Amino acid sequence: MQYPPLSVYIHIPWCIHKCPYCDFNSHEFKDQNIKNNEEAYTHALLKQIENYNIEPNRPIHSIFFGGGTPSLFSPKAFDTLIKKLENTFGLDKNCEITIEANPGTFDKKHFYGYRDVGINRMSLGIQSFNQTHLKKLERIHSPKEAASAANLAVRIFDKVNIDLMFALPSQSLSDVKEDITKALEIGTSHISYYHLTIEPNTFFYKFPPQLPDEEKSAEIFDLISNELNSAKFEHYETSAYAKKNSQCLHNLNYWNFGDYLGIGAGAHSKLSCEGKISRKSCFKNPRDYIKNANNHKFYDDEKLLSENDLIFEFMMNALRLNKGFNQSLFEQRTNLPISIIDKELSLAKDKKLIIQKNGRIKPTDLGQSFLNELLQIFLKD
Ligand SMILES: C[S@@+](CC[C@H](N)C(=O)[O-])C[C@H]1O[C@@H](n2cnc3c(N)ncnc32)[C@H](O)[C@@H]1O
Ligand code: SF4
Repeated sequence: MQYPPLSVYIHIPWCIHKCPYCDFNSHEFKDQNIKNNEEAYTHALLKQIENYNIEPNRPIHSIFFGGGTPSLFSPKAFDTLIKKLENTFGLDKNCEITIEANPGTFDKKHFYGYRDVGINRMSLGIQSFNQTHLKKLERIHSPKEAASAANLAVRIFDKVNIDLMFALPSQSLSDVKEDITKALEIGTSHISYYHLTIEPNTFFYKFPPQLPDEEKSAEIFDLISNELNSAKFEHYETSAYAKKNSQCLHNLNYWNFGDYLGIGAGAHSKLSCEGKISRKSCFKNPRDYIKNANNHKFYDDEKLLSENDLIFEFMMNALRLNKGFNQSLFEQRTNLPISIIDKELSLAKDKKLIIQKNGRIKPTDLGQSFLNELLQIFLKD
């Protein structure tokens, strides 16, 4: 069997402040010392890396340090982790190594340090350059800090992504236009532009802010698409826009249903082995994760994917890509013949949600706008 590319995701689960819209596995570290957390947690991560048993000759395609706020940790922690991954599995020659950074933790020395230990891509959680919106989102950074962090990042990293959010409380079209103008001035080559969603278990869920209605949100979305298209950014995935050769290789591997090792609190892995695909998830609470790692235990759930899981999960990822996927990729990655979804593909075509042409399946504009409805078709039980 030819294995798909293998990526690594490492989760750093602490933040200075929990944002009111965020349902990620992130915890305020208020009363603890982040240095102690860094040491104990890095030690646990190293143990988990040692514990993996992967076939030889599967060098790492990409590494992503996500969070939470990885930029709370020092370059030394990432140096240790990258070296461990390199010595354990080997790294591809062009391995993309991303760190997520929060401009509120901006530290010039750390940014250079991250680059010096081999990190070649930075993803900055800016959300907006507008003080009123930053305040409403309870972000810990100012517009000035956002611009300083981003300006330095584009100078020192090969690739830089800026995360922005739209359809914010009372956000006008001109506010959005200003955010885009600032991002373009900085010269970033990748923008992840997320529609603010109100997730259960968040402060905004309990105390919902007044958000733009559907019509206004659609207008904002069109503005974003047009502005970024004019600036030569390709809209290549639901929320991702990139200049030529600047797509995120790590995320592309997820969307193409590649393999990944999830390391750290709450991280998930997807791994192909002997014709089967397994999923594992790590203990979610950082304290539990560290405690269990000392006893060489890392996972609280593990399962082999059924045919129905494989079909749905493949579609859930690949249909996010505006160019869709080749039928041969479906067959390679799931080990199932494309004929197994003939009925579902026909239904999606009848509803004008996909186009199937020359062996390629791609979502239509309608399919992209109603992705959940499209995916429902492939949910078998
Ligand atoms: C996992 S977060 C990590 C980034 C980093 N911790 C930060 O916030 O600066 C990645 C991105 O997801 C987006 N995001 C998080 N919660 C969201 C929500 N409820 N709706 C839309 N986008 C969200 C934000 O743009 C955020 O930068
Ligand atoms: S900084 Fe990022 S991960 Fe942390 S709470 Fe805010 S959105 Fe969530």
